[in-house]
Amino acid sequence: MEIDIFTLFPEAFDWFAGQRHVANALAAGHQLQRVNYRDHTPLSGRQVDDTPFGGGAGMVLRVDVVDAALRARYGIDPVELPQQRRVIALDPGGRLLDDALVDELAAEPALTLLSGRYEGFDERIVEHFASDRVSIGRYVLAGGELAAMVVCDAVLRKLPGSLGDERSAVEESFSAALEGGPEYPHYTRPAEYRGWRVPDVLLSGHHARIAAWRLDQSRSRAAAASPRWPGP
Ligand code: 6GU
Repeated sequence: MEIDIFTLFPEAFDWFAGQRHVANALAAGHQLQRVNYRDHTPLSGRQVDDTPFGGGAGMVLRVDVVDAALRARYGIDPVELPQQRRVIALDPGGRLLDDALVDELAAEPALTLLSGRYEGFDERIVEHFASDRVSIGRYVLAGGELAAMVVCDAVLRKLPGSLGDERSAVEESFSAALEGGPEYPHYTRPAEYRGWRVPDVLLSGHHARIAAWRLDQSRSRAAAASPRWPGP
């Protein structure tokens, strides 16, 4: 998988790129590249944004700047790009990221993530250069960088070789193995702490009973988390 992140703040990803599962994915041959819009702006003074037509607060990322950055990276007119690869505009009003969307994205050979800043994108960027709008939740962040990291984190950890133990990605929250429900509780040593005991079944060595208990716990948590889990 090749992931390109377009951003005004490439250094915001330094910590993320050093995370173990990300480093493992890179060592396994996957690629994560950052492109700074500012390095490709055709405007003077490294300008990338502008005030919104019609008035209002904040600044809007310019369509000519994003056009130039995409063109510099891919060498084609970016209106053609969505036919070649998923181009995801990070947008609080977009399709909500969930495990199914993560699986869909993890199956792609290449992704382009576009982070906005300030008030967001000139709408023509999303309309003409993007294949998808993705949101990580119904709240507004100051920029798309954290959202881009969330998407990358969730996608990369699905790729073979990125987690130490491949089972971690199969039997986890929201996976089919748990009927789409949340993960069961985990315990480790000590078996008793301040009088709080680990459930006996987990110490029993009965694998079938442990599996049944875990599925039952996942179902109870699903019911507690939302009366209409897993919801839309
Ligand atoms: Cl993708 N961007 C921003 N700025 N805020 C968000 C978001 C994205 N998803 C949820 N909030």
